[in-house]
Amino acid sequence: MRAIQVKEYVKGPEDLTVTTLPDPTPSPDTYLIAIHATATNFFDLLQIRGKYQHQPPLPWISGAEFAGVVLSTPSAKTSPKFKKGDRVFGSSQGGYATQVCAREESLMPVPPGWGFLEAAGLMVTAPTSYAALVNRANIQKGDHVLVHAAAGGVGLATVQIAKAFGATVIATAGSSRKLEVVRRFGADHAIDYNKEGWAEEVKQLTPKGKGVDIVFDPVGMVNASLKCTAWGGRIVIIGFTSGNIEKVAMNKVLLKNISLVGLHWGTYSKEEPETVAEVWKGLFQLMKEGNFKGTVYTDREFLGLEQVGMALGMLGRRETWGKVVVSVPQGTGSKL
Ligand SMILES: NC(=O)c1ccc[n+]([C@@H]2O[C@H](COP(=O)([O-])OP(=O)(O)OC[C@H]3O[C@@H](n4cnc5c(N)ncnc54)[C@H](OP(=O)(O)O)[C@@H]3O)[C@@H](O)[C@H]2O)c1
Repeated sequence: MRAIQVKEYVKGPEDLTVTTLPDPTPSPDTYLIAIHATATNFFDLLQIRGKYQHQPPLPWISGAEFAGVVLSTPSAKTSPKFKKGDRVFGSSQGGYATQVCAREESLMPVPPGWGFLEAAGLMVTAPTSYAALVNRANIQKGDHVLVHAAAGGVGLATVQIAKAFGATVIATAGSSRKLEVVRRFGADHAIDYNKEGWAEEVKQLTPKGKGVDIVFDPVGMVNASLKCTAWGGRIVIIGFTSGNIEKVAMNKVLLKNISLVGLHWGTYSKEEPETVAEVWKGLFQLMKEGNFKGTVYTDREFLGLEQVGMALGMLGRRETWGKVVVSVPQGTGSKL
C-alpha cells in the first residue's frame, strides 16, 4: 500500500512524504478497508509535530478519518456488521494511506446517496456537534445558539444541527468568504469575530438583547462570550484552536446562572457507549430528512496522498472551510 508514514516528527505538513509499505495485516478483530477518501483534522497537524496528547510510538501512519470499501471482515467475528464490498466511513490511526485496519465500533455505513468524499469527514465532527448541542446543552426549539469558528469542520456541522432543532443560529468566523459559507449552510446571522464589538452585536440579535442560550466554543472564547450569554445559558467547551486555554471569570458565571460544560466525544465510546449509538441514530435521521449534508471544502480539489501535506498546510493557515478531504485513488476502476 501507499501511505504517509511518520518516521520522525516534522516541522510542518510540507515535510510529509508518501512511501510504499507492505499491505497491513488485520488482527482477528479488525476490518481491512480500501481508502477512497481521507479527511484532515486540526489534530493531525499537532500529531505530526509530536505535540498531540495521543502519540503512537514511531514510526506510525498519519491521518485518522476516512471512507472506503471493506476488503475483509474480522476473522474472529462470526456475524460481522459489515460485509466485504460494503461502503463505510470511520476513524482509525493511519488514514493517510490506501488501506487501513479498523475495529467495528469505529466504522459506520456510508449514508445512502453520499459519496466517499462527503462521508470521509463525518466520523469526528458530526457526533461532536450533535452531542454538544443535544446531550450537553439540551438544545430546544427557539433557542438562540452562538457558534464560534462556524465555518470550520465542527462549526458547519453545528450550524446545521442547531437549525434542524429549530434554533436561531448566530455564527462567527474570521473572513468574508467564511461568513458567506456559514450563511449558505443555514446560519441566520454571520458576524466577523475579529471585529471589535462582536459580542454586543450578538446580544442585539437576541430578543430584548438578553443574549444567547447556547455558546458552542471550539476556539477558546468563553470570557468574551460571557458578555453575550443569557441568564441560564450553557457554554459548551469543544476545543482551543486559538491556543488559549482560558482562566474564566467565575463571578460572571455565577451572576448569570451559566453552565460551563465540556464535551470530549472521543471518550464516549469508553464511558457511555450507549450514547454513541443514540447520537448516530439522531444524525442518520437528520441526514435522511435532508437536514444534515456533507461539508467538504470545495474551493479547490485535493487528489492523491501527495496532496495531503498541501491540504493540511491550508487548514493550518485557516485558508479553508468545512472538512478538507483528499481523494485517494485506488488504481484503475476506483470511483469516488
Ligand atoms: N471536544 C471534542 O470532542 C472535539 C471533537 C472534534 C474537534 N475538536 C476540536 O475542535 C476544534 C475545531 O476543530 P475543527 O475540526 O472544526 O477545526 P478546523 O476545521 O480547522 O476549524 C477551526 C477554526 O478555528 C478558527 N480559529 C480561530 N483561531 C484559530 C487559530 N489560531 N488557528 C487556527 N484556527 C483558528 C478558524 O476559523 P476562522 O478563520 O474563521 O477564525 C478555523 O476555521 C479543534 O481544536 C479540535 O481539536 C474537539
